[in-house]
Amino acid sequence: MWPEPRGPGAPDSEVGPTATRDKVGRGEAPAKAILLGEHAVVYGQPAIAVPLPQLRARVQARFDSKLDDLVIETPGKGQVISLRRDPRQPLALAASLACRTLGLTPSFLRLRLDSAVPIASGLGSGAAVSTAIMRALADLLGKALSPEQLSDLVYEVEKLHHGTPSGIDNTVVAHQQPVYFRKGEPAEFLQLPAPLLLLVADTGVSSVTREAVASLRRAREEDPEGVNRKLAAIGDLVGHAREALIAADWQELGHLLDANHAILAELRLSSPELERLIAAARGAGALGAKPTGAGRGGHAIALVTSESEASATLAMVDAGARRVTLCRVEP
Ligand code: MEV
Repeated sequence: MWPEPRGPGAPDSEVGPTATRDKVGRGEAPAKAILLGEHAVVYGQPAIAVPLPQLRARVQARFDSKLDDLVIETPGKGQVISLRRDPRQPLALAASLACRTLGLTPSFLRLRLDSAVPIASGLGSGAAVSTAIMRALADLLGKALSPEQLSDLVYEVEKLHHGTPSGIDNTVVAHQQPVYFRKGEPAEFLQLPAPLLLLVADTGVSSVTREAVASLRRAREEDPEGVNRKLAAIGDLVGHAREALIAADWQELGHLLDANHAILAELRLSSPELERLIAAARGAGALGAKPTGAGRGGHAIALVTSESEASATLAMVDAGARRVTLCRVEP
């Protein structure tokens, strides 16, 4: 598939003008939150997602002449991933896909991943770490991958997380912009007229996308009409939310988040922990709140103002949140 490894510091013509043995390539990517439309987006309805710049994955990449492999170290977790040992491991796959696109032999490479994006919790950790890995490898070569290239490559990795990804995670993370997204259509990037304040609260319960998507698939097989009706209702809410976002009508957006939450709960994609955090945020003045991402655990989001942000944070912590992060989505 690739040319024989030639060792680090391969000829400049092959690895790009600024690559040297000592160079450190750096890549970063944000987490994401789905504002409305998760799950329905898998079935062709629109959804809206925003990047969360406060929660980032960071990667450093170096050549290492002693290493006849590509390894990814995650110091926080004490994990070492080897491309040779496990080429289908998602992070290894992300690195090898980037190498192939960049024309780089996937060997003699040492990567270090530091991620503040919690895994299996609805915040697009898979897309964020894959994107950061790809950017770091490109930077090591003094090259850049376009957002479109990154999004397409990350989509390939996302298929490992669950078989039928809608493509919204890779799109919002690679472009780092709020997006109105419908599968199979060009993404529409949204210009916010004012910053959006979101509290992102961790239930501490892990949420595996593949399982949540499979549970909805089963429910839909049992009751296609009923479930399709609910998914279409979510799609309608997303259309209104697009207008509310563009108009910075946060009150209306809050109501729409609440309405989306009600349907997710009917579809059994909420959980007792999420319900406690959502009720607490609303009781403390949040404009709206709901699960985000795969659901059944993971994170809740609450739309707040600068006045309600502190009280809603405290209320969610009192209601059991492991961590509450204030995220400002800038225009
Ligand atoms: C995962 O972040 C969002 C889901 O809608 C799955 C997908 O869009 O592929 C649950």
